[in-house]
Amino acid sequence: MKITFYGHASLGIQIGDTHILVDPFITGNPNASSIDINNLKADYILVTHAHQDHILDVETIAKRTNAVIISNYEIVTYFGNLGLEGHPMNHGGQWDFEFGTVKYVNAIHTSSFPDGSYGGQPGGFVIEGEHKNIYIAGDTALTFDMKLIPLQTKLDLAILPIGDNFTMGIDDAILASDFVECDKILGYHFDTFGYIEIDHEVAKRKFFEKDKDLMLLEIGGSLEL
Ligand code: NI
Ligand code: MN
Repeated sequence: MKITFYGHASLGIQIGDTHILVDPFITGNPNASSIDINNLKADYILVTHAHQDHILDVETIAKRTNAVIISNYEIVTYFGNLGLEGHPMNHGGQWDFEFGTVKYVNAIHTSSFPDGSYGGQPGGFVIEGEHKNIYIAGDTALTFDMKLIPLQTKLDLAILPIGDNFTMGIDDAILASDFVECDKILGYHFDTFGYIEIDHEVAKRKFFEKDKDLMLLEIGGSLEL
């Protein structure tokens, strides 16, 4: 499994020959100007919630690639009305896709579309594929619901928001990694806006002091599991 960071909360996940994008917000992110969305491959697009900083490039990329949008029922219905293909889910539900299993799990946040319309409830994803398991938390507060995840899934990587203000900050993300029982963390949802700027060295040190490994990828950078 290969995971690429496209800035903010945007990720590429390659499992075998399958390309998955998560929350593409690239053309609106000046820090991600090196990424050309016309070059991104997508068989599936996972969307955690309806906020603009998670859906901005979904329509453009899905129209070009015919990617299947996987999200909550309301978000899939919204994009379905634009003629895009989707697979609706809801909290606690799991589905076996060709690349692996996806479960839509709880997040504590909000989920309105940019025009204010209802975007369902926000979520995160647990993906099991190619003998590697990851948790993509989405935008969320620290929540005890995270403790449910390791009851069923031994994670190889937890992708957690660390930017604070709109989501968990560093200290809560450290607790979240305890809750999900995974000490290998990819941080995301930081530095994009003034509200969520962080000190990278302080963040890494705080995780290190708890015997955890916080990885912060350059935009366009990848890791392999
Ligand atoms: Ni959000
Ligand atoms: Mn966000």
